[in-house]
Amino acid sequence: MTHSMSLKPLALALLASLALAACSPSGETPAAHSAADSADGHTRSSSGIPAGNVAAGEKLATTKQAATGQACVDCHGAGGNAPIDPSYPKLGGQYRDYLSHSLQMYRDGERSHALMASQAKDLTDQQIADLAAYFGSQPSELVDLSNL
Ligand code: HEC
Repeated sequence: MTHSMSLKPLALALLASLALAACSPSGETPAAHSAADSADGHTRSSSGIPAGNVAAGEKLATTKQAATGQACVDCHGAGGNAPIDPSYPKLGGQYRDYLSHSLQMYRDGERSHALMASQAKDLTDQQIADLAAYFGSQPSELVDLSNL
Protein backbone atom coordinates (compact mmCIF):
# COMPACT_ATOMS: atom_id res chain seq x y z
CA MET A 1 0.00 0.00 0.00
CA THR A 2 2.65 2.47 1.05
CA HIS A 3 4.66 1.37 -1.91
CA SER A 4 2.03 2.11 -4.55
CA MET A 5 1.16 5.43 -2.89
CA SER A 6 4.72 6.64 -3.29
CA LEU A 7 4.84 5.69 -6.96
CA LYS A 8 1.74 7.64 -7.89
CA PRO A 9 3.26 11.17 -7.82
CA LEU A 10 6.19 9.86 -9.81
CA ALA A 11 3.90 8.42 -12.48
CA LEU A 12 1.95 11.67 -12.65
CA ALA A 13 5.13 13.68 -13.04
CA LEU A 14 6.23 11.36 -15.82
CA LEU A 15 2.91 11.71 -17.63
CA ALA A 16 3.05 15.48 -17.30
CA SER A 17 6.52 15.65 -18.79
CA LEU A 18 5.52 13.39 -21.66
CA ALA A 19 2.55 15.63 -22.37
CA LEU A 20 4.78 18.69 -22.35
CA ALA A 21 7.24 17.04 -24.72
CA ALA A 22 4.43 16.20 -27.12
CA CYS A 23 3.30 19.82 -27.15
CA SER A 24 6.71 21.40 -27.67
CA PRO A 25 7.25 23.04 -31.05
CA SER A 26 9.76 20.50 -32.28
CA GLY A 27 9.29 20.93 -36.00
CA GLU A 28 7.61 22.87 -38.73
CA THR A 29 4.80 21.68 -40.87
CA PRO A 30 6.35 20.11 -43.98
CA ALA A 31 6.54 22.48 -46.92
CA ALA A 32 3.49 22.45 -49.11
CA HIS A 33 4.19 21.04 -52.53
CA SER A 34 2.47 23.50 -54.77
CA ALA A 35 3.74 26.01 -57.24
CA ALA A 36 1.46 28.56 -55.64
CA ASP A 37 3.64 29.09 -52.61
CA SER A 38 6.82 29.51 -54.59
CA ALA A 39 7.55 33.17 -54.12
CA ASP A 40 5.45 33.55 -51.01
CA GLY A 41 6.14 33.58 -47.37
CA HIS A 42 8.03 30.30 -47.26
CA THR A 43 11.07 31.89 -45.75
CA ARG A 44 11.92 29.44 -43.02
CA SER A 45 13.79 26.28 -43.64
CA SER A 46 15.61 23.93 -41.33
CA SER A 47 18.54 24.14 -43.73
CA GLY A 48 18.70 27.90 -43.29
CA ILE A 49 18.27 28.77 -46.96
CA PRO A 50 16.19 31.60 -48.38
CA ALA A 51 12.77 31.20 -49.95
CA GLY A 52 12.89 29.41 -53.29
CA ASN A 53 11.36 30.37 -56.61
CA VAL A 54 9.84 27.59 -58.71
CA ALA A 55 10.31 29.29 -62.09
CA ALA A 56 13.95 30.13 -61.43
CA GLY A 57 14.48 26.56 -60.24
CA GLU A 58 12.93 25.10 -63.36
CA LYS A 59 15.18 27.21 -65.56
CA LEU A 60 18.26 26.12 -63.62
CA ALA A 61 17.23 22.47 -63.58
CA THR A 62 16.84 22.38 -67.34
CA THR A 63 19.92 24.42 -68.27
CA LYS A 64 23.20 22.65 -68.93
CA GLN A 65 25.85 23.89 -66.49
CA ALA A 66 29.08 25.18 -67.98
CA ALA A 67 31.30 23.11 -65.66
CA THR A 68 29.63 19.74 -66.28
CA GLY A 69 27.82 20.17 -69.59
CA GLN A 70 24.78 18.61 -67.94
CA ALA A 71 21.44 19.73 -66.56
CA CYS A 72 19.73 18.18 -63.54
CA VAL A 73 16.99 16.78 -65.75
CA ASP A 74 19.56 15.06 -67.99
CA CYS A 75 19.94 12.50 -65.21
CA HIS A 76 16.85 12.92 -63.03
CA GLY A 77 14.44 13.29 -65.95
CA ALA A 78 11.60 15.71 -66.59
CA GLY A 79 10.29 17.10 -63.32
CA GLY A 80 12.80 14.89 -61.53
CA ASN A 81 10.49 11.97 -62.19
CA ALA A 82 12.17 10.06 -65.04
CA PRO A 83 15.71 9.16 -63.96
CA ILE A 84 17.88 7.74 -66.73
CA ASP A 85 18.95 4.88 -64.47
CA PRO A 86 16.77 3.08 -61.95
CA SER A 87 19.39 3.67 -59.26
CA TYR A 88 19.11 7.45 -59.67
CA PRO A 89 16.62 8.99 -57.25
CA LYS A 90 13.32 10.61 -58.18
CA LEU A 91 13.13 14.17 -56.92
CA GLY A 92 9.58 15.22 -57.85
CA GLY A 93 7.44 16.06 -54.84
CA GLN A 94 10.25 15.48 -52.37
CA TYR A 95 10.27 17.74 -49.31
CA ARG A 96 12.02 21.00 -50.08
CA ASP A 97 13.99 20.86 -46.89
CA TYR A 98 15.21 17.38 -47.74
CA LEU A 99 16.27 18.46 -51.22
CA SER A 100 18.05 21.54 -49.98
CA HIS A 101 19.81 19.69 -47.18
CA SER A 102 20.98 17.07 -49.69
CA LEU A 103 22.29 19.64 -52.13
CA GLN A 104 24.07 21.58 -49.39
CA MET A 105 25.66 18.38 -48.16
CA TYR A 106 26.90 17.39 -51.64
CA ARG A 107 28.20 20.91 -52.14
CA ASP A 108 29.93 21.04 -48.78
CA GLY A 109 31.38 17.53 -48.99
CA GLU A 110 29.27 16.11 -46.17
CA ARG A 111 27.55 13.67 -48.53
CA SER A 112 29.85 12.22 -51.10
CA HIS A 113 28.97 11.03 -54.56
CA ALA A 114 31.20 11.62 -57.56
CA LEU A 115 28.40 12.71 -59.91
CA MET A 116 26.40 14.84 -57.50
CA ALA A 117 29.40 16.53 -55.88
CA SER A 118 30.39 18.02 -59.21
CA GLN A 119 26.78 19.01 -59.91
CA ALA A 120 26.37 20.80 -56.59
CA LYS A 121 29.78 22.30 -55.94
CA ASP A 122 29.10 25.73 -57.45
CA LEU A 123 25.47 26.15 -56.33
CA THR A 124 24.62 29.16 -54.18
CA ASP A 125 22.11 28.90 -51.34
CA GLN A 126 19.60 30.78 -53.50
CA GLN A 127 20.05 28.35 -56.39
CA ILE A 128 19.64 25.43 -54.01
CA ALA A 129 16.46 27.01 -52.67
CA ASP A 130 15.13 27.53 -56.21
CA LEU A 131 15.96 23.97 -57.29
CA ALA A 132 14.35 22.58 -54.14
CA ALA A 133 11.25 24.70 -54.73
CA TYR A 134 11.01 23.47 -58.32
CA PHE A 135 11.50 19.75 -57.75
CA GLY A 136 9.39 19.91 -54.59
CA SER A 137 6.54 21.44 -56.60
CA GLN A 138 6.44 18.61 -59.13
CA PRO A 139 4.03 15.68 -58.91
CA SER A 140 5.34 13.00 -56.60
CA GLU A 141 6.07 9.46 -57.65
CA LEU A 142 7.85 8.75 -54.41
CA VAL A 143 6.96 5.57 -52.62
CA ASP A 144 7.69 4.26 -49.18
CA LEU A 145 7.25 0.85 -47.68
CA SER A 146 3.58 1.52 -47.01
CA ASN A 147 2.94 1.67 -50.76
CA LEU A 148 4.50 -1.71 -51.47
C1 HEC B 1 25.21 12.90 -64.11
C2 HEC B 1 23.91 12.58 -63.55
C3 HEC B 1 23.29 13.58 -62.57
C4 HEC B 1 23.07 14.92 -62.76
C5 HEC B 1 23.38 15.76 -63.99
C6 HEC B 1 22.42 15.40 -61.54
N1 HEC B 1 22.26 14.38 -60.66
FE1 HEC B 1 21.42 14.51 -58.81
N2 HEC B 1 21.85 12.56 -58.46
C7 HEC B 1 22.46 11.71 -59.37
C8 HEC B 1 22.72 10.44 -58.71
C9 HEC B 1 23.37 9.21 -59.32
C10 HEC B 1 22.25 10.58 -57.38
C11 HEC B 1 22.32 9.57 -56.23
C12 HEC B 1 23.60 9.90 -55.48
C13 HEC B 1 23.75 9.24 -54.13
O1 HEC B 1 23.54 8.03 -54.03
O2 HEC B 1 24.08 9.98 -53.17
C14 HEC B 1 21.71 11.92 -57.28
C15 HEC B 1 21.13 12.44 -56.12
C16 HEC B 1 20.54 13.67 -56.02
C17 HEC B 1 19.84 14.16 -54.87
C18 HEC B 1 19.59 13.41 -53.57
C19 HEC B 1 18.23 12.75 -53.68
C20 HEC B 1 17.88 11.86 -52.52
O3 HEC B 1 16.78 11.24 -52.58
O4 HEC B 1 18.62 11.77 -51.54
C21 HEC B 1 19.40 15.42 -55.17
C22 HEC B 1 18.60 16.35 -54.26
C23 HEC B 1 19.84 15.71 -56.51
N3 HEC B 1 20.52 14.63 -57.00
C24 HEC B 1 19.58 16.89 -57.17
C25 HEC B 1 20.17 17.24 -58.39
C26 HEC B 1 20.12 18.57 -58.95
C27 HEC B 1 19.38 19.73 -58.33
C28 HEC B 1 20.86 18.54 -60.09
C29 HEC B 1 21.20 19.68 -61.00
C30 HEC B 1 21.92 20.80 -60.37
C31 HEC B 1 21.33 17.16 -60.25
N4 HEC B 1 20.90 16.42 -59.19
C32 HEC B 1 22.07 16.70 -61.33
C33 HEC B 1 22.80 11.98 -60.67
C34 HEC B 1 22.77 13.24 -61.23
